[in-house]
Amino acid sequence: MDFINIAKQRFSVRSYTDQTVEKEKLDKILEAAHVAPTAANLQPVHLIVVQSEEGLAKIGQGANLYGAPLAIIVCADHEKAWVRPFDKKQTGDIDTSILTDHMMLQATELGLGSVWICYFKPDVISREFGLPDNLEPVNILAVGYSDEEAADPKRHSKMRIPVSQLVSYENL
Ligand SMILES: Cc1cc2nc3c(=O)[nH]c(=O)nc-3n(C[C@H](O)[C@H](O)[C@H](O)COP(=O)(O)O)c2cc1C
Repeated sequence: MDFINIAKQRFSVRSYTDQTVEKEKLDKILEAAHVAPTAANLQPVHLIVVQSEEGLAKIGQGANLYGAPLAIIVCADHEKAWVRPFDKKQTGDIDTSILTDHMMLQATELGLGSVWICYFKPDVISREFGLPDNLEPVNILAVGYSDEEAADPKRHSKMRIPVSQLVSYENL
């Protein structure tokens, strides 16, 4: 499928079947993360794959996974992230989010549903997974087989601001 069609087909899935995500599919999702770019190629990122009942319950203390059988906690390593010298902006959030987006779209291409989650208690996730101080959980990607009706790939004309509002060309 063309990239643009994968992007249009993707939607946030908030109800999943119990079906486990096959290892080959998980490996492909992780490969998509692996090839993602990061600032200065510093790769200040770490992924925690959670599939066990116990692990999912741990996440459940700090986040709603909507019953997904797989979650990937995407962490930024603040000791490794690139810092822009002019204003000291650190790119950990950006780097982790590029990996998350790559994985999300790869999941779509594999026929899987997903939802990107930021509404979680970071202190609980850090505690439950024993994260060191340098690792911040930035995003959680919930993945699994959707138990929802697919969203209309043509919905974006109504669900997004118009391109004319999104984009301006130079001096406009
Ligand atoms: C940075 C980010 C954080 C998000 N956090 C959550 C979240 O915590 N819980 C949730 O249900 N959806 C979350 N979403 C999903 C958005 O609500 C969703 O992508 C948006 O409403 C557009 O809908 P669509 O994904 O179906 O196209 C998040 C998405 C992004 C990009």
